[in-house]
Amino acid sequence: MKITTADFQNMKNRGEKITMVTSYDYSTAKLADNSGVDSILVGDSLGMVMLGYDDTISVTMEDMISHSAAVARGAKNALVICDMPFMSYQTSVYDAVSNAGRLMKEGRCGAVKLEGGVEFKEHVSAIVKASIPVCGHIGMTPQSVNAFGGFKVQGKSVEAARKIIADAKALEDAGAFAIVAECVPPNVAEYLSKSVKIPVIGIGAGAGCDGQVLVYQDMLGMYSDFKPKFVKRFANVGEVMETGFKSYIKEVKDGTFPNEQYSFKGVDEEIMEQIKK
Ligand code: KIV
Repeated sequence: MKITTADFQNMKNRGEKITMVTSYDYSTAKLADNSGVDSILVGDSLGMVMLGYDDTISVTMEDMISHSAAVARGAKNALVICDMPFMSYQTSVYDAVSNAGRLMKEGRCGAVKLEGGVEFKEHVSAIVKASIPVCGHIGMTPQSVNAFGGFKVQGKSVEAARKIIADAKALEDAGAFAIVAECVPPNVAEYLSKSVKIPVIGIGAGAGCDGQVLVYQDMLGMYSDFKPKFVKRFANVGEVMETGFKSYIKEVKDGTFPNEQYSFKGVDEEIMEQIKK
């Protein structure tokens, strides 16, 4: 059964935690979906974990559309949420609606996510009015890395925590169906989750949120450039992949792959003779 934004709300209402992981391609989306995850986020983190940039700033609408469409083909049940990349919504309400529309129409996602709160209330409201569900993203918002001066925990002072809570309330008022809270002290995030009716999905925000999201390369041990404190390695897929690549290289070099089992039947001798003439 396809999970909807209404299911998100029902899960929060009955106290069931919402699970979300990122995916950026068809095969991984299918694996995550088969595992029973509630939602797949096509995060603009793809700029870092898929494309090798240092941050998410250079990610384009075209990147997001093609990865979202691939994920949507693989996710039969999970709600697919696609990130709006840097400068696809900040510039105007018109751009926000138009680009959210492209992500849904061409990227086939079920909802979009954008970073920011109070300052983008009008943008969120306009996208929601266009029948496109919106997930907000507050706290440490990676597209603002240059304004923050690095990837840092947010909401540690009274003023900063109050700003995060005001952002969450603005998003809720604007019609967002959920909010991602990233790198927020756990007690602030728990208070935040209780302060709004819509679900708050945490990443580096403790156990008091209504759900959790992780970047799959982080949680499966496939990205070694940087490991945030909040990432638990649930598997060592990177090691398994390296072992597999090494075995392949060895067998090709020593001529044991491909053997008969992995080859098609040869043509008859007669045909071979004619080929050689
Ligand atoms: O881009 C992304 O993967 C995200 C998560 C870190 C929440 O926004």
